[in-house]
Amino acid sequence: MSLIAPSILNADFLHLQEQIEIINRSDADWIHLDIMDGVYVPNISFGFPVVQAVKSISKKPMDVHLMIVQPEKYLKKFTENGAFNITVHYETCTHLHSTIHQIKDLGVKVGVALNPHTEISLLKPVLEDIDMVLIMTVNPGFGGQKFIHYSFEKIRELRKISEDYNPGLLIQVDGGITLENIGKLKQAGVDVFVAGTFVFKSKDPIRTIRSLKESS
Ligand code: DX5
Ligand code: ZN
Repeated sequence: MSLIAPSILNADFLHLQEQIEIINRSDADWIHLDIMDGVYVPNISFGFPVVQAVKSISKKPMDVHLMIVQPEKYLKKFTENGAFNITVHYETCTHLHSTIHQIKDLGVKVGVALNPHTEISLLKPVLEDIDMVLIMTVNPGFGGQKFIHYSFEKIRELRKISEDYNPGLLIQVDGGITLENIGKLKQAGVDVFVAGTFVFKSKDPIRTIRSLKESS
């Protein structure tokens, strides 16, 4: 079975505590936090006060997805606020190798995310240094978008390359994940599934998470 990481981007923020407690009680493996700055992506989500609040009650490791420019400025603060994994976007890092090693030196897991138009092969030089690649299956910025089908090709390509460069590499997908596509994505080589809308807009998020887990 793969790992399921519900994203709280489309959760009910008026009842955030209840929403986190739902994730705590569920079969979710991680909790996925989407940090957006309104510069790299055309949307602003939430910052440190929310991350801290989540950390104070979450029983699941916090998987932090940084959709911000100059992420290197905030790495330390995210680890101090309880991140278990930090994922930066390839497109935002001028000195990606250096940023990856900064994250490792902080003692947390490191992921690199690729936008839908960014080639897998660009990651070859750093593949052995990282724990996870996040293949964006929608354009970053918003929950509730349609899954981009070309992602399958990228997943297969990465799975193949990783056999040579980093056999333990985790492949994560994020955006438009549902019970319809999770099985096929698993077959293509995905290890970690982020799901936001499909979980939090469902009638019974605990049951939805369980179904995703069982289908993956
Ligand atoms: C989009 C975010 C996603 C988003 C996924 O930029 O990175 O984590 O919450 O949402 P759904 O599952 O609604 O496509
Ligand atoms: Zn995300």
